[in-house]
Amino acid sequence: MSLAALAMLLAAQSSAPAPAVAPVLTSADARDVHSYAQPLEARVTHVSLNLYADFDTHVMRGIATLSVDAKPDARQLVVDDNGLRIVTVTDAQNRPLPYTVGAADKVHGAPLTITLNGNRTVKIAYASAPGAKALQWLSPEQTAGKKQPYLFSQGEAILNRSWIPTQDSPGIRQTWDATVNAPCALTVVMSGERTGETPCHDGRHTASYRMDKPVAPYLIAVAIGDLKFKPLSAHTGIWTEPAMLDKSAWEFAGLDKFVTAAEGLYGPYRWGRYDVLVLPPSFPFGGMENPMLTFATPTVLAGDRSLVSLIAHELAHSWSGNLVTNATWDDFWLNEGFTSYFENRIMESMYGKRRAAMEADLAWTDMQNAVKEAGGPQSPDTKLHLDLDAKRDPDDGMTQIAYDKGATFLRTIESVVGRSRWDAYLRGYFDRHAFQPQTSAGFLADLRQNLLKPGEDAKIGVDQWVYQPGIPANAVHVRSDAFPAIDAAAKAFAAGDPVSAVPDKVTTQEYVRFLDQLPRQLSAERLAALDERFHWNETGNSEIRFAWLRLALANRYPPAEASAEQFLTAQGRRKFVAPLFQQLQGQGESGQALAKRIYDKARSGYHAVTQVTVDRLLGR
Ligand code: BES
Ligand code: ZN
Repeated sequence: MSLAALAMLLAAQSSAPAPAVAPVLTSADARDVHSYAQPLEARVTHVSLNLYADFDTHVMRGIATLSVDAKPDARQLVVDDNGLRIVTVTDAQNRPLPYTVGAADKVHGAPLTITLNGNRTVKIAYASAPGAKALQWLSPEQTAGKKQPYLFSQGEAILNRSWIPTQDSPGIRQTWDATVNAPCALTVVMSGERTGETPCHDGRHTASYRMDKPVAPYLIAVAIGDLKFKPLSAHTGIWTEPAMLDKSAWEFAGLDKFVTAAEGLYGPYRWGRYDVLVLPPSFPFGGMENPMLTFATPTVLAGDRSLVSLIAHELAHSWSGNLVTNATWDDFWLNEGFTSYFENRIMESMYGKRRAAMEADLAWTDMQNAVKEAGGPQSPDTKLHLDLDAKRDPDDGMTQIAYDKGATFLRTIESVVGRSRWDAYLRGYFDRHAFQPQTSAGFLADLRQNLLKPGEDAKIGVDQWVYQPGIPANAVHVRSDAFPAIDAAAKAFAAGDPVSAVPDKVTTQEYVRFLDQLPRQLSAERLAALDERFHWNETGNSEIRFAWLRLALANRYPPAEASAEQFLTAQGRRKFVAPLFQQLQGQGESGQALAKRIYDKARSGYHAVTQVTVDRLLGR
């Protein structure tokens, strides 16, 4: 990074005083079954990392210094550990402290129990395992530039314990700082404020970051690679590999306006800068809301800005999720449902009602499909507030329901109380609970105290929405007035109308709707007609490509197979990859043989998160 760019980054940092670390909630519903921590005895308030990124052995090693707040008589601190090699545990004066690593289970890892001996500072020297779940070490071939290796972390939901020994629970907020040592050719970025860097020495340098606002520990993130920065405004910019920098900067040129739009809805953006890191194609998610630095898949780079709602979504998490955080993974909908609602409001304010309605209507269909996938409206997996089994990977319970049923619930509240009361309430809600964890019951209590008038609670059916399965009858379905024409076109085309009657040059959302509305069984002749006119086997718009491939593979349309192979080996976003493999796997021997052939080629390029899902689908 140039000195000028560094100076700009440093200058833009906020100087507002850091909020105090929020206490851990004590109510029974706030107990996190996915962490070994016993925060009411002793809890971590600050994590200070001094780490060396070893690209030869794929290990992060160094020291984590934990600041602890504990009851006067607390004997021990319990932190989460997934596969770490613990070297020493000492107090601030480097005197050894007794510790034990308990029995590990596959999902949660093990408790690391440290005897405090009256100390409130604990230093852990450790190393991550080469297969640490939160870390993906990419070879140069797996990057866009092909010359340098790359590392990125993904903490949500409970992966950060594989590289940071701390209390890995979303209800235990922590401030942090980090100094990371890496090869000089690589730039280190993190989800915090950049505070300095050292010059190159013996081929290595360090970069320092800090987050002085207490955050849930799943939000600590790092990426190291051949990264360049392009500012988009004084407070926003893009980090990515040089080969993707211009394309990314063009796609997200409106970033600053997104922040302004979001602030106009729900109050000030409290994190200082807002930058986006565009990752290599193996990034398993669409996006991840790491504070100050959203991580995003390159599959949003459609070339026409048509998929930017993903950025609206990750930005919205700067309020819902990062500011007010699900206390446990049972409350995941508080993160994702609020964010999906907020995302759509940002889209409306940026692009107008037409675009927002199309996206909301597509999400309605996604919601209906999610209910079916969960096993129907009676399934407990369709509840907003989950009751995740301690033994189950929280990732399994975290479905599209949290997103789309969550957003629909909030839209239903809006329709009952009216937009102006609802918006004023939400703004106050984010203020009241800023930098604190929240449970479902806590939100409902706040709603009843600060918004609902007599009769409205029953009219909305608040408890049913949150604690019962299925979609309540009063759910507000936003209908796009662009879709009836698209639906009619799909119907007519399926019935044999010429392909020339299919509307051309419509929006991405309309094409996706068109493809999803077509019957799942379509003749090769009909598919060939679409192929010839729209060339969807080659489109670089990932959402259209995905919708097309789902349809074409369902019919085993031969020309789609090479396209599927290309798409599945070129990116590893789980949302695209898993359904396509699932589709093939359900098609008997020939589909399974194709799935196997493609997966054999693609698997090593995927992130562990995607590998685990596809392994399961293909019975590996
Ligand atoms: N926070 C999520 C990603 C996530 C969820 C990671 C659960 C690990 C566990 C992120 O904000 C998200 O929802 N991403 C979506 C895109 C969004 C536009 C719906 C995704 O990755 O598909
Ligand atoms: Zn999200």
